[in-house]
Amino acid sequence: MTLHLAPERLPEFARGLPKAELHIHIEGSLEPELIFALAQRNAVTIPYPDVASLRAAYAFSNLQSFLDIYYAGASVLRTEQDFHDMAWAYFLRAHTDHITRAELFFDPQTHTERGVAFASVIDGLRRACARARSELGIEAELILCFLRHLSEEAAFATLEEARPHLGKFIGVGLDSSEVGHPPEKFARVFADARRLGLRAVAHAGEEGPPAYVWSALDVLKVERIDHGVQSLKDPALVRRLVEQRIPLTVCPLSNLKLCVFDDLRAHNLKRMLELGVVATVNSDDPAYFGGYLNRNFEACVEALPLSAQDLVTLARNSFDASFASPQEKRMQREGVDAFVARFAQG
Ligand code: ADE
Ligand code: ZN
Repeated sequence: MTLHLAPERLPEFARGLPKAELHIHIEGSLEPELIFALAQRNAVTIPYPDVASLRAAYAFSNLQSFLDIYYAGASVLRTEQDFHDMAWAYFLRAHTDHITRAELFFDPQTHTERGVAFASVIDGLRRACARARSELGIEAELILCFLRHLSEEAAFATLEEARPHLGKFIGVGLDSSEVGHPPEKFARVFADARRLGLRAVAHAGEEGPPAYVWSALDVLKVERIDHGVQSLKDPALVRRLVEQRIPLTVCPLSNLKLCVFDDLRAHNLKRMLELGVVATVNSDDPAYFGGYLNRNFEACVEALPLSAQDLVTLARNSFDASFASPQEKRMQREGVDAFVARFAQG
């Protein structure tokens, strides 16, 4: 059954749909208010006098200009409790956006390089994940990201540090400065991670060329591509993404804030859906990019000719593209179908 809705009902429909978020850097959910609270709690000084001046600095020209401030913000995180509090704040926010599954990226190297214990990072995050499941009904998992601007050796050391905690995260990813740090640099680390039974994803084609998407697939053997918006420049790559149903975790407001697209009306999300790409919508670093998941959906509904059916496809894709068990995927899809049926009636 195809659902047709009047355009004015689309934002409400988009907001209420149950969805998975698959591309959220938990350090990117750190709101300025929490940065200041944690700075005070941990006696860390930050080079901004107040929340307003920190927020005013969130004007980015590209990925690197954002990363510089993002790593500075993360420097206030010190204790297990800090990591718990950051993730718990995200889950409370996610719940209001009808997120029922979240796969959170975390960047251990950002913290271990400053002397924070790996266990403090992962145990704080896991405690928040357990609470999200029991108190909010959100299924939550962690994906450990390697920082690609650091060396292969540093990534190997991080994987080694993570080994005693293998049951606490489901996969590995690759983030940070893309251009000049091709996936090949981490071929051996990803091979080891996969041998440990971990799932694999990577940022590719955010600012970097389609060639990085090809090598994320062929060399790192990832199951999803984070961003991937540059893939549409390469028709052979699009054919592969469609034929093999390789998901892209697209982050529209991030792309806008980091000047990947000048205007959301020029974003290629709708085109991806027309081509049959398994695209999903995500927030990336919501505290920095002007909105959480539902704000991304609303902005896309405003800027792009998305239909109700497109929105259902995006919600379904988010669960299909997730690393949930087959039983959970079935249950989550039923949640989407039940919402659609209720909305169509009322
Ligand atoms: N780390 C946090 N957000 C990121 C992004 N959009 N791209 C690469 N690395 C990131
Ligand atoms: Zn990202």
